[in-house]
Amino acid sequence: MDILILGGTAFLGRAIANEAVARGHGVTCLARGTEPAPAGVTFIAADRDEEDGLVGVAGRRWDAVIDVSRQPGQVRRAVRDLDTRHWVFVSTGNVYAAFDRPEQSEDSPLLEPLECDVMESMEDYGPAKVACERAVSGATASATIVRSGLIGGPGDASGRTGYWPWRFASPTGDDVIAPDDLGFPVALIDVRDLASWLVTAAEQRIDGVFNATGPKTTLGEVLDASRQVAHSSAALRLIPLDRMTELGVAEWMGPRSMPLWIADPEWRWFATLGTDRARAAGLVTRPLADTLADTLGYELTREVPRQAGLADEEEREVRRALDAAG
Ligand SMILES: NC(=O)c1ccc[n+]([C@@H]2O[C@H](COP(=O)([O-])OP(=O)(O)OC[C@H]3O[C@@H](n4cnc5c(N)ncnc54)[C@H](OP(=O)(O)O)[C@@H]3O)[C@@H](O)[C@H]2O)c1
Repeated sequence: MDILILGGTAFLGRAIANEAVARGHGVTCLARGTEPAPAGVTFIAADRDEEDGLVGVAGRRWDAVIDVSRQPGQVRRAVRDLDTRHWVFVSTGNVYAAFDRPEQSEDSPLLEPLECDVMESMEDYGPAKVACERAVSGATASATIVRSGLIGGPGDASGRTGYWPWRFASPTGDDVIAPDDLGFPVALIDVRDLASWLVTAAEQRIDGVFNATGPKTTLGEVLDASRQVAHSSAALRLIPLDRMTELGVAEWMGPRSMPLWIADPEWRWFATLGTDRARAAGLVTRPLADTLADTLGYELTREVPRQAGLADEEEREVRRALDAAG
């Protein structure tokens, strides 16, 4: 097949390109060129923010176009300018209007779509992806729209999935500091499993909207598996939300944070979407421990700074504050 990936040079897009090349497809990636292109693809450097940014890949018929954009204008122009037998659009669980119940289905209410072409801030991420989905659904070709949950695995530069195994492998004391909410739902999907199924969706022209997450687990299971893959005997030191707030520790990601955990009860079921439809259509996900083991390998050799978790000195500082409080 002749597959065009709009993107294809970052975390997920690169995994999709690698998978499609490995399956023998002809793969073209279009991006501005911030990162080197994956091996084995034809690379087209272009800026999709330009009105005619897709001119280099228009005027021919693709078997499938796979798009990872979050900018409605980019997606609208792609649908307008490209000729393809099938679209695969990578969306997100953030399109849903609420996260007040576990395993919500694809038919749950969505946010209102962003009207304008450009998403200016991450506040508009969900509405922007709803607008992108609408543009793809309005295309004449068939389309797979995939609402992914948190994507993890080797190459996750954010450090969200790698922090916990890395922290157990690189302890700053006898224990690892973690939130006291071990039941928090987590369902991260391995980037390689998602990429594999997205290529299958392109090959089989699977039509429809699908949630895609990994196995349903909890933060406690992530911590247990992280300890195991790091061959660590460190204990857990669990701290409640009010202490975390006092100590300036954030939730989810970013500097001085506790990755994969969200305090806000309105977001409790953010991670665990209902995936029956995708699994019936061929999505297969590996066990969490396999993802964490491979992500630890990446973390131990990573060259770019981690953007999540507590740095060594921060964890020591938090431990000292907890010790001092008795
Ligand atoms: N990470 C998660 O946990 C998560 C969860 C749910 C859903 N998702 C979705 O999964 C996808 C992740 O995709 P990804 O990992 O490949 O990362 P990404 O950072 O979204 O990739 C953006 C790609 O598009 C290219 N690009 C950006 N601006 C461009 C422009 N103006 N013109 C042309 N190309 C442009 C980038 O390359 P250049 O910079 O070189 O242009 C890069 O290849 C996204 O759709 C995201 O919304 C992610």
